[in-house]
Amino acid sequence: MSARQTVFRPLDPAFMEDPYPVYARLRDQHPVAWGATPAVGYAGFWFVSRYADVAAGLKDNRFGREIARVMPADAFPPIPEAHKPLYAMLSDWMLFKDPPVHARLRRIAAPVFSLRAVLGMRPRIEALIAAALARIPDRGPFDIVSDFSSPLSIDIVADLMGVPEADHPLVRGWVREITLSLDLVRTPERIIAGSRRAGELIAYFERLVADHRRAPQGNLLSLLIEAHDGGSFLSNHELLASCVLFLFAGHEASSLLIGNGLRALAQHPGQWAMLRDGAVGAKSAVTELLRYDSPQQIAFRHALEDVTFEGVAIRRGQTIGFGLGSANRDPLVFLDADALDLRREETRHLAFGVGIHTCAGSSLAQLEAELVFGALARRFPALKVVSHQRQESILVRGLTALVLDCG
Ligand code: HEM
Repeated sequence: MSARQTVFRPLDPAFMEDPYPVYARLRDQHPVAWGATPAVGYAGFWFVSRYADVAAGLKDNRFGREIARVMPADAFPPIPEAHKPLYAMLSDWMLFKDPPVHARLRRIAAPVFSLRAVLGMRPRIEALIAAALARIPDRGPFDIVSDFSSPLSIDIVADLMGVPEADHPLVRGWVREITLSLDLVRTPERIIAGSRRAGELIAYFERLVADHRRAPQGNLLSLLIEAHDGGSFLSNHELLASCVLFLFAGHEASSLLIGNGLRALAQHPGQWAMLRDGAVGAKSAVTELLRYDSPQQIAFRHALEDVTFEGVAIRRGQTIGFGLGSANRDPLVFLDADALDLRREETRHLAFGVGIHTCAGSSLAQLEAELVFGALARRFPALKVVSHQRQESILVRGLTALVLDCG
């Protein structure tokens, strides 16, 4: 590492609360910087902060996911027995695959997330949003995260995956523990807990898949079971892994977007008024909220070979974090990039990633968020934040609590 590459500390609480001034400095002076973490299995990672570099790096096949393909077997410590269910679950996620396997998984799953399929889910999503809104009290403070966005986001994706309503709280608990075991803030205890839950979640979906094979229900799970690419279906293990991936990916970012977006809108009452009064549509609002405070801040990859990137020598096997959240504030792409502007004309944000792993569920996520923000704007004339609590994470950015008083 040369002196040019500043160390920044992604787990510093001040950085987590407001990373944007640090991103601005990095973009300006150190476009590829070294981020140190105390996380299990990682010394740290190279952080790429400029929009052009993030977009180029995520399309560059010298950076990928399957590090085991390019490193000697003894480069990794053996996986402890107690961690194995977690790794087994992740091993077939398209998110962690490189071509050609990735392309096959993605092609098979494509019909599940087609615009037509997503629009067909709209009435069910609207009904779930209405039910969740009905549970928010009319008067007095409430926590929009625990009372609304977190249960709603899991309800939506679990419902589309055929999970009966009575099991939603159970599934939510599993997802939460698995999430903690995957982030770079993980500890050995969190990995063991996440691994136990991964085993339980897979066993749960095994039963659900068997039920749906016997009696197809026209939902997202049935579509996935029936999906094939020229006669090539998902193997049973791939199918189960995809169920868990959709549940996991579909829940968290959608929930975080609601918290981040509402906090931003509460800080910008004029923008909230424009949405509420119909001067701007929910579609544009959601697009800007995704850019302004992106739920997924970083897309991680590994160098599959030695690469010189922006003049920095990155060694084969090292981790690179492509800063989606930083790219989305790059003034070379977005005019007055730190301003929240729901009517912004430049909308090429990277909140859904870019390249082969671009969010498969982006149409569903966009629709869900449009319906949620539209419904909230009709319900609350004004937003007042009482307090908030931030989630400790490197990968995602969001709140574990956002107490509002809109009465
Ligand atoms: C606001 C909501 C969402 C955001 C911000 C978001 C963001 C992202 C991002 C940034 C990636 C790329 C990660 C990378 O390149 O490392 C991704 C991938 C993915 N997302 Fe989303 N996502 C959201 C909602 C959803 C939903 C609702 C689903 C489906 C139920 C979903 C399914 C997926 C899948 C399957 C992938 C992996 C795609 C691949 O590897 O080819 N996401 N998402």
